[in-house]
Amino acid sequence: MTLTDRHHDSGRIVLTDLVKEFSGRDGATRAVDGIHLETQPGEFVTLLGPSGCGKTTTLRMVAGFETPTSGEILLDGADMTRLTPDKRPMSMVFQSYALFPHLSVRDNVAYGLKLQKLGKEAINDAVDSALTSMDLVKLANRAPNQLSGGQQQRVALARAMVMRPKVLLFDEPLSNLDAKLRVQMRTEIRNLQQKLGITALYVTHDQDEAMSLSDRIVVMNKGKIEQVGTPDEIYRRPATVFVADFIGSANFLDPTGVTVLGDHARVDVLGSQRELKAAPGAAEASAHVVLVRPESVQLRPSAAEVAEGESVLGGRGRVLRAVFYGSVVEYEIDTDAGTIIAVVSDPDPDAILAEDDLVEVDFPRDRGWLLPA
Ligand SMILES: Nc1ncnc2c1ncn2[C@@H]1O[C@H](COP(=O)(O)OP(=O)(O)OP(=O)(O)O)[C@@H](O)[C@H]1O
Ligand SMILES: [Mg+2]
Repeated sequence: MTLTDRHHDSGRIVLTDLVKEFSGRDGATRAVDGIHLETQPGEFVTLLGPSGCGKTTTLRMVAGFETPTSGEILLDGADMTRLTPDKRPMSMVFQSYALFPHLSVRDNVAYGLKLQKLGKEAINDAVDSALTSMDLVKLANRAPNQLSGGQQQRVALARAMVMRPKVLLFDEPLSNLDAKLRVQMRTEIRNLQQKLGITALYVTHDQDEAMSLSDRIVVMNKGKIEQVGTPDEIYRRPATVFVADFIGSANFLDPTGVTVLGDHARVDVLGSQRELKAAPGAAEASAHVVLVRPESVQLRPSAAEVAEGESVLGGRGRVLRAVFYGSVVEYEIDTDAGTIIAVVSDPDPDAILAEDDLVEVDFPRDRGWLLPA
């Protein structure tokens, strides 16, 4: 058995109306509140959301460590819902690594295969291959407490993939590592998952991690799914204010005179009438906001004079604050559509605006997105 490319033909997870309630002294908590999700074989799907939104609980139900209150978990059409974890062709990588402290690296990686009572030679071949691909050969005889955090995480990965699972499950696997190692391990995980073509379900509350790893991101809030989409869709076409606010930083401008026409809208904002794309929920909504990301805001020094105390109108704003970060300048601008954050990259040091400067504020037409408020 070698760890070579696998065809993208298996590893389709289907979650149907998945619910998990925990009962405690203070009543029942609906940790997961009716989730529908379907992954494609070989897809990297990340569950992202704030603390307590139900990510770990969802993952643990898929792995078999929690029994759903109701709903179904299918893998390639087979019902997994009531199977114990060892009967599911899935491996989980934990935040705490969960290595066996009294076993060597090699024996940690071999453990699952030994339980399956494979022949000695087959086990050795598979373990060698996993150790090689995770660059652990030289550390094979060490105990886990003789390894760095990053090395322990690689052992956990080798131990998961040696089982040739159809699905890899990850619960915040990088959160105990320092920032630099986290970025490096991200790449390793993504490369490994792609090489093996294994479906991955990955839990994190780190949006950079989610954006850089995922084919699709599932944004969760209070036990429910807010949106499922590619990183690009989640960032540029968020379905709700919650998603827009959770991913990246966001300006929400107050428009007037909103007319929604299907997936487009006509609104008045920042002093002119504009045509914008609109989120699917915008047509039915009675109140709206316009999302503009800080890097999409365009600023030009304003020629016009404004008398002291006079309000600034239309597409004009007043600089409240300018912070120079080296690669970018971040401005806070007061406008009649609200306070706007603008990020200007590669700034010209001679043209940095000062506090109280007047500016014309604008954004490219395709960078505004109308959302239900
Ligand atoms: N065993 C349990 N008993 C009771 N309540 C639980 C249990 N496990 C989780 N919960 C509750 O279910 C909700 C979801 O928890 P979960 O661990 O799934 O969140 P999470 O999204 O993984 O959060 P985090 O980012 O902090 O890890 C929380 O309100 C939590 O307190
Ligand atoms: Mg969690």
